Amino acid sequence: MKQRVRLTVSSYGNVMISIERVNKTYYMGNTSLHVLKDVTMEVIKGEFVSILGASGSGKSTLMNIIGCMDTLDTGRYVIDGISVENSDADVLADIRNEKIGFIFQKYHLIPKYSVIQNVMIPLLIRGTERAEAKEKAKDILNLVGLGDRGHHKPNELSGGQQQRVAIARALVTNPAILLADEPTGALDSKTGKDILALFSELNKRGHTIIQITHDSNVAKVGNRILTLHDGVLS
Ligand SMILES: Nc1ncnc2c1ncn2[C@@H]1O[C@H](COP(=O)(O)OP(=O)(O)O)[C@@H](O)[C@H]1O
Ligand SMILES: [Mg+2]
Repeated sequence: MKQRVRLTVSSYGNVMISIERVNKTYYMGNTSLHVLKDVTMEVIKGEFVSILGASGSGKSTLMNIIGCMDTLDTGRYVIDGISVENSDADVLADIRNEKIGFIFQKYHLIPKYSVIQNVMIPLLIRGTERAEAKEKAKDILNLVGLGDRGHHKPNELSGGQQQRVAIARALVTNPAILLADEPTGALDSKTGKDILALFSELNKRGHTIIQITHDSNVAKVGNRILTLHDGVLS
């Protein structure tokens, strides 16, 4: 059996994410599309960074690379002291599991599980004992304001509440970084504002957050805005 690589936390100072001259091209038959062009960015621990770009500018491609769900073609990527660019699929999976909490536009909750079970899943996958996983899930649900909804099914909740469950699920393993792709994209503006206020609150508690959005008002909620235009980040 293949030996899983143990991820060690090295001292990489205050830098959580360091991306240098990253390129990504999609190849389709005879055509190719150069989607990320020499992208360079750094995120400091505790920052809340927004990546703003129009549809098709390469936001999800960049998010997939930051989230270790896809590989880069050329360039360097270091997350929390771990070099990503030469890692194989097993190592990428370990980095994803240990370092990153994902939040998507469409929540991706499991419909047949209760709210509390959905939040427990990442812990159970890691082998956390059930009773402990349940306690942790309850604590995080309290933090996101859903302490009284643990036994509901996702479809019994509003969109904003479902996104809070998804945020709780992302937080329950205490990841180094929260990565959100259009987290308010499926919500009305009032509910979207509530979710953004929750992100700000989590950021004040020390969580590093990267959110991706096409909406400049949403982007303003973070500490810093990076703009992606046709695959060029500035
Ligand atoms: N797997 C893929 N294969 C080929 N082209 C892709 C793939 N994923 C995305 N693209 C193309 O790359 C460009 C950037 O896509 P994407 O990163 O999803 O942008 P955004 O999230 O900003 O809308 C788009 O033109 C899209 O059609
Ligand atoms: Mg996208």
